[in-house]
Formats: sequence, structure tokens, C-alpha cells
Amino acid sequence: MLMESPWSQTAIRGEDGAVSVGGCDLRELAGEFGTPLYVLDEQDMRARAAAFRDHFTAAFGRHHAKVDIYYASKAFLSSRVSRWMYDDDLCIDVASGGELELALRGGMPAARIGLHGNNKSDAELRRALEVGVGRIIVDSFTEIEVLDAIAREMGVLAPVLVRVTTGVHAGGHEYIATSHEDQKFGLSLTGGAAFEALLACNDAPGLKLLGIHTHIGSQILSLDAFRESAQRMLRLRAVFTTETGVDLPEVDLGGGYAIRYTPHGEELTARDAAFGIADAVADAVAANGGSWPHLSIEPGRAIAGPAGLTVYRVGVVKHVALEDGGTRQYVAVDGGMSDNMRTITYGAEYTAAIASRLSEAEPTLSRVVGKHCESGDIVVRDVQLPVDVERGDLLAVPSTGAYGRVMASNYNAVMRPAVVSVRDGEATLHIRRDTLEDLFSWDVW
Ligand code: LLP
Repeated sequence: MLMESPWSQTAIRGEDGAVSVGGCDLRELAGEFGTPLYVLDEQDMRARAAAFRDHFTAAFGRHHAKVDIYYASKAFLSSRVSRWMYDDDLCIDVASGGELELALRGGMPAARIGLHGNNKSDAELRRALEVGVGRIIVDSFTEIEVLDAIAREMGVLAPVLVRVTTGVHAGGHEYIATSHEDQKFGLSLTGGAAFEALLACNDAPGLKLLGIHTHIGSQILSLDAFRESAQRMLRLRAVFTTETGVDLPEVDLGGGYAIRYTPHGEELTARDAAFGIADAVADAVAANGGSWPHLSIEPGRAIAGPAGLTVYRVGVVKHVALEDGGTRQYVAVDGGMSDNMRTITYGAEYTAAIASRLSEAEPTLSRVVGKHCESGDIVVRDVQLPVDVERGDLLAVPSTGAYGRVMASNYNAVMRPAVVSVRDGEATLHIRRDTLEDLFSWDVW
């Protein structure tokens, strides 16, 4: 039986009641790779990447305009994922020297990589120029000066976009909204800093100014926010070109498309986003005059998130009395805030289900917690789970493909889980599980 969203495309519950993904039985994967385990549904993730590519190409193609999809690799990156994105004709956005190396290792051509970051080191900038990244998104006047100097010293031209803070405030949680004024990213549109930065880039002999970039936040449901940001960006582009005669061929509108984490959650689909944003750009081009930009976007969560799930082994089950007279079933699993930081950090919501068998028992109000030494160590705050859930059961939490493994820690010296992708009955290891040897190798003794 096919499982519905937020479970990934190929997740099914078989006749014996156990869940499999990509043709792989989660019980077997847990046996082979241990738990907790991140499982990535390759078909699902690549279909999502292709959906962004195809819908945006179609929506912008109607206006004879070009669009590139940069997968925001901060959501999840392995060299194998970099290769998938390359094979599927996407580009990659990286936010550090480490992500840059992983993207390159998987074979993504440097020309299809964009480097981000509000505080890039000299070494990161130098390395980006050395390998020839397609674009560096500059985030400050300091960076413009430093990058210009490094590029001139190396005898190259650094291709840049200026990161603009548009003032559009959108997104799920304060920590993941990024384009309101009082925060660390970008250069302000309304305060004039963005315009100044464009002038500075244009005047810098070591820089080649390609255009402008913005990212308004994450887990955004409203198309209005994207429309508003597109309009502000195209207006800035038109004003800059009118006042200086300098063309800004590229506009990047960032990522942030919302996904569904629970059965009652909502999402912004690639299709709706593509046609909504293309319409907004069309309106703005009509209003401001000028040519169509070469557009790009940077979805991360919407490509990797729904494709991943986490498999845990249940350890201890407790029934705790609540003040209102009811009880809550606490289901403790063998991971927790070390493999999913999102619940404790953003109050994120998830759902869960027993994956190793089908239970006919009554559902009861439950909370999935981890094994760490703090009470905030919660994976799923509220979920209905059968009353017979017991030690040894496998529990799966869907929609953990984005910002899961990449934000994992070794808190309490736990071993970070492995990541495997599954497809057509085959499992491929992307990241192996930490070992005691790893732990000892970091501990200098
Ligand atoms: N582009 C830029 C410049 C970004 O900063 C981000 C995310 C993205 C694209 C991709 O956004 P997405 O499509 O994945 O929403 N750890 C948080 C999310 C932080 C997002 C940071 N930047 C979370 O777990 O919700």
C-alpha cells in the first residue's frame, strides 16, 4: 500500500505490514547499516529536482527567458548527490569551502557552482577563483574589497552577484527568515547599500558584475512573498541600469519553497512557484521596461526534504500522567536532537509511524524523544502512535532529508547516523556511520 505525503514517493507498506522505500525493506536496511539511519529516496529527490527544472523552464520559456536551478546543497550534500544534480542538469549553490569541495568531488563543473556566505575567508575566495566557480555572491563591502584584491593578484576576473536584502519578511521561523532588515545577510535595498555595492563591484577592476541575488527565507508558503521580492529586485535592476547604463543580466531569487512535514501540513509546489514567479517577473519587466533577466533560483529543502526519512529503533516506552487527567506515551528512540536539530531549534513539526510491522492497536497521544540528557530532546512533539509500540520496533520519521544529517552533532558522544540512498531495491551508502575510531581520532590523547 502506497504511503501518502509526507512519506516519499516510493514508500509503501507491504503485505506483512513493514515499510519499504525504493524497493528496500527498512528492517533490512536497519540490519545492514544500523540505526538511526537516514534513508534517501533517490527517485523522489531527483523527481523533485526535475520538477523545478521543468516547470521553471516551461514558465520562463513562455517568455523566451532562461532559468537555472541551483540546488541549495546546505539542505543535504554528498558527492553522489552532487553527481545526481549534474546528471539532472541542475547547478549547485554552496555556502562554504567544504560544500564547494564536496560538490566538485561529485563532478559538478565549477562553472555551475555559486558560492555563498556572509563571512567567506580569504582561503575560500581564493579557492573559488582557482577552480573557476561560475559566481560568487558578495555579501558586504569588505568582501567586495577583499575579493577584488585577491582576483587582481591572481590575474582573474571574479564573477559576482550582489546579495540584496529586499525587506520582504517571509518564512517559517525567525531564524530562517533572511531578508528583513535587522539581520546579518546582504546589503539593504531600501537603505541604498545594495545600489552602492553594485557601483563598487562595477568599478572594481578584479570583478565582473553579473547581477543581483536575494533569498527571502525558508519554508515559505506564500507566493505573494516571492512575487513581491521579484518585483523589488527587478525594479532595482531597472533603476541601476537606467542610472548607470550598466546591464545586470542575472537575477537570482533564492530558495525557500515550503514542504509538507505532517499529513495536515501545506507545501508550495514547484509548478505553482514557477508560474507565479514567471508572472511576477513578466509584470515587473512590463512595468519597468528593459530586457528579461536570466533568472535563477535555489531550492534546497523542497528537493531533499520530502525524499528523506529517519529510521530509529525504539528503546523505552513510558506512560506519563498529564495534569488534565490524560496520559502521554513517551517513545524513546536511539537518536534524537543529535540527528534532528530542527524540533528543538525551530519547534518543527514531524510525524512518525512504526515501520517494522502493522499495529492494529488503539492510537494514543505520543511524543517521540531521543536518548540525550535534556528534556527538550524531542523528535516529534505530538503524534498518534499505537499503544502497543514496544522496545525493538522500528520507528520512521518522514521528511527529514533536508537539514537533518547536515546539522547533526556528536552531542553526548553519540555516533552520527549513516545516509543511504535507495532505488529499485538497491541501497547505496553516501555517508557512513561514525565509529568509535572516529571519536578517538578527534580526541587527542
Ligand atoms: N539560498 C540561500 C542563499 C539560502 O541561505 C538558503 C537557505 C537556500 C537558498 C535554501 O533554502 P530552502 O529552499 O532550503 O528553504 N536550517 C534551517 C534552514 C536554514 C536555511 C538557510 N538558508 C531549517 O532546518 O529549517
